[in-house]
Amino acid sequence: MAAISSLRRLLTQKIRTPTGCLAYATHGNVVGQTEPKQPSFVGRHFLTLKDYNKREVEHLLWVAADLKTRIKTAEEKYKPLAGKTGALYFQKRSTRTRMSSEAGFSILGGHPLFLTDNDVHLGVNESMYDSAKVISRFVDFFLGRVYYHSDLEEFAEQASIPIINALSELYHPLQALADLQTLQENYGSLKGLTIAWVGDGNNIINSLMMAAPKFGINLKIATPKDYGLESFVIDDCKKITKEHGTDLHITTDPMEACENANVIVTDTWISMGQEEEKLARLKAFEGYQVNKKMTEVASSDWCFLHCLPRKPEEVDDEVFYSDRSLVWDEAENRKWTVMAVMLTLLKDHVLKTPKPRF
Ligand code: CP
Ligand code: NVA
Repeated sequence: MAAISSLRRLLTQKIRTPTGCLAYATHGNVVGQTEPKQPSFVGRHFLTLKDYNKREVEHLLWVAADLKTRIKTAEEKYKPLAGKTGALYFQKRSTRTRMSSEAGFSILGGHPLFLTDNDVHLGVNESMYDSAKVISRFVDFFLGRVYYHSDLEEFAEQASIPIINALSELYHPLQALADLQTLQENYGSLKGLTIAWVGDGNNIINSLMMAAPKFGINLKIATPKDYGLESFVIDDCKKITKEHGTDLHITTDPMEACENANVIVTDTWISMGQEEEKLARLKAFEGYQVNKKMTEVASSDWCFLHCLPRKPEEVDDEVFYSDRSLVWDEAENRKWTVMAVMLTLLKDHVLKTPKPRF
């Protein structure tokens, strides 16, 4: 009730902008129907956060926060995507990405079509080129989880609708957005935080590397020797850290990464598609399980993130189920962030809540 009345109070603080348009006064920000300075993403692809600058990622997170507040307080039924359809195509399993995008798109009034390789010819009987041309005639956007990032790039090149990466072997940008939203909510701001990554040099950390430094977040990354980061990802990240004045520290020592870190993050040691490497990986990652010892050298305000699904080998129960573990909020935020992406790629969104502090 308190949340509803404070939102109502906020929404009634109407003011006039210099152009005479209606807007809403918030904590130092002016937002409203005619806010001229908001970035517009309509028609863009969302394949990696490398393609989105700080202001654009901030805008996506603001839209996610705005939707979360407005829809959770049930102030209004907000259906800006009524009449839109979207293809949600999955070559790999998914709980969070599939459900958050399917539910989220429906909540916004859209009609999702869930497709797998068993349902469509894409990439099996029909080339990416032909599929992209045809699918663009049927739906308003295409969200795809694929084995090869290059397939999404090829699809995006030919499609005339926005393409959203729902995870490839290289990036999982939707996950990084949810992680940033969760940290913003937990710490009240992102600037100056240090994230420690303990685990595989995979798609999840690659995506954090493309986004976190833009918010003044430092990264300390520990991976086993033969499971490190790709050099082009390091190079891209270094350009971002240089531009935003943050640190990137790469090591093979998990304790070194966790020292003084605010956030400890890990993921599975065996990503989808790597099942045959299981035995070799379990051996190579010995000593990388996130546990109490690692949290003891971290900052006193430490928290834990994991994109899920989780296996006990990469984080023990004591940390995973502790009150410092934000994994359930992180999972929920997958919904608000993917809704923000789908919405902003299809139409400009009118923000009604204050900009979060980043
Ligand atoms: N974190 C994540 O993408 O989970 P799913 O594989 O369940 O979609
Ligand atoms: N790295 C994992 C993430 C799953 C959400 C994978 O690619 O399987």
